[in-house]
Amino acid sequence: MCGIVGYIGNKDVKEILLSGLDTLEYRGYDSAGIYITDEKNQGHLFKEKGRIAALRDKVDESINAYSGIGHTRWATHGVPSVENAHPHQSTSGRFTIVHNGVIENFEEVKDAYLADVHFHSTTDTEVIVQLIAWFVESEELDTIDAFKKAIVTLKGSYALALVDNENPDTLYAAKNKSPLLLGTGEGFNVISSDAMAMVRETSQFIELMDGEVATLTKDSIKIEDLAGETIERDSYTAHIDANDLGKGTYPYYMIKEIDEQPAVMRKLVQQYQNEDGNLEINEDILAEVKESDRVYIVACGTSYNAGWVGKQLIERITGTPAEVHLASEFAYNTPLLTKKPFFIFLSQSGETADSRQVLVQVNKAGYPSLTLTNVPGSTLSREAKYTLLLHAGPEIAVASTKAYTAQIAVLAILAECVAKFNGVDSPLDVAHELGIIANAIETVIDDHEVFEHLSVTHLSTSKNAFYIGRGIDYYVVMEAALKLKEVSYVQAEGWASGELKHGTIALIEDNTPVISIITDEVSGPHTRGNAHEVISRGANSMIISMEGLDRQEDAYVLPKVHDLLTPLISVIPTQLIAYYTALHRGNDVDKPRNLAKSVTVE
Ligand code: AGP
Repeated sequence: MCGIVGYIGNKDVKEILLSGLDTLEYRGYDSAGIYITDEKNQGHLFKEKGRIAALRDKVDESINAYSGIGHTRWATHGVPSVENAHPHQSTSGRFTIVHNGVIENFEEVKDAYLADVHFHSTTDTEVIVQLIAWFVESEELDTIDAFKKAIVTLKGSYALALVDNENPDTLYAAKNKSPLLLGTGEGFNVISSDAMAMVRETSQFIELMDGEVATLTKDSIKIEDLAGETIERDSYTAHIDANDLGKGTYPYYMIKEIDEQPAVMRKLVQQYQNEDGNLEINEDILAEVKESDRVYIVACGTSYNAGWVGKQLIERITGTPAEVHLASEFAYNTPLLTKKPFFIFLSQSGETADSRQVLVQVNKAGYPSLTLTNVPGSTLSREAKYTLLLHAGPEIAVASTKAYTAQIAVLAILAECVAKFNGVDSPLDVAHELGIIANAIETVIDDHEVFEHLSVTHLSTSKNAFYIGRGIDYYVVMEAALKLKEVSYVQAEGWASGELKHGTIALIEDNTPVISIITDEVSGPHTRGNAHEVISRGANSMIISMEGLDRQEDAYVLPKVHDLLTPLISVIPTQLIAYYTALHRGNDVDKPRNLAKSVTVE
């Protein structure tokens, strides 16, 4: 979490840093700050609690500055406050730093080196900048050596940008585990947590790797390892359209991204189709899956929920057994693995620390791995053996919507390609079905007013709610509940409907909202029975069913799509319900409290 930016060059830096931070705000929005150096080499620090908009109001417009660093924070150590906002400075004010990550041994470092230093914040970050200053002042190291020595001393995750006001024509950067890119241009260079934040300035980026230190001036970038060995690395072009980063005419990114799902389905078919119109995936991946005796899907949050649908698709289409694991559990409670596991990492951002932790273990053990991600060049993409892209376009709202459906669609494409490679008949024509689904999603989205009304009648005041379903619908209600929780703050459970009477039904009282999803012919009648059980106990029931399984009592009937792909359509009403519930409660839909989009700490 947290986002960092840096710029050194010829243009006035204030707006470059602030608009970069606006783009990075999805990584955290507890506080924000910038440090800029003006034409007379005078440094200026601006920090504010809360959003970038609040910081923007504080920045002195009259300053002309050509270099600076900035930060948007998701608090880990220390409450959200101006004191704890980055950038942090050494006591003398000579060094200024921004940091994304967590320093695990900050207390030990403080005791060992900094016992006499007065700290201004309760962050782990201030320890870094005070330590650099200590190495310069007490051991007479120059800045780069002090920076390197601090890095060797610190344990944890970090992406860092540092300014030394005695040498303001230079910015320093380093990373470990947390992502960091260097961007290059004519007469300027930049530092950024992701390419999106600086794509208005440049499309040329260089990856910085763990254990490397970069020195940037406006005309040069030098990368070296901790032993001082220079590292040459080519830049790559980030294919991001700056126009995709805006909300257009939409009030929130979340509703824009919900609306984009039909286009994403169609784009995925195009991207994975070969010249003959057949779906195609790198044969090396297919051969590895064929070789494996079990697929392990590892992910967090919404991606984990998509993984459950993926398990169903892989097992039903290819016949290979699949398991789904929470990355944060897998890393420290590793299950007994089969002889030939194949790992699939699902991650919209490609930066999730919990998932990366598992990938590091998987790589160490030499198992093959594939990342499905929306962000080319992201950490999980670089470190896995293979990558398949989601092609969903930037997903900015913290609540993931289009990445969920894109992950399921790519897993379906993968499963069909594996089946064909194995000489097995696929039970469905995925490209054809995704076309049908794109149209069906459009139909549901066109009915958005129905879901706005249902949100008002069922969820406008309730503190809790239940989504229930069985089989493939159970997987969807897990995601439906997560979406409702994170944006509306309604305490929601996604429950296997058959499990209700084993305990949870005790929570049902007058007007408790219970939303049933029924798309499965075999289990649907049972879920309907469970819906009636809760209605008898006073629940405010809403049944969303699929054409062919519908009854008069149902609140909404979904267009019929292929049995294996119903989550792609049944999830849409639940996204809209979460959106409208949050909207009517006056919440910040795109930036729900306490959250950040990219979870780069474990
Ligand atoms: C989704 O709405 C959430 N914000 C969150 O659960 C997210 O899916 C999770 O943190 C995983 O992120 P990733 O897909 O980028 O790895």
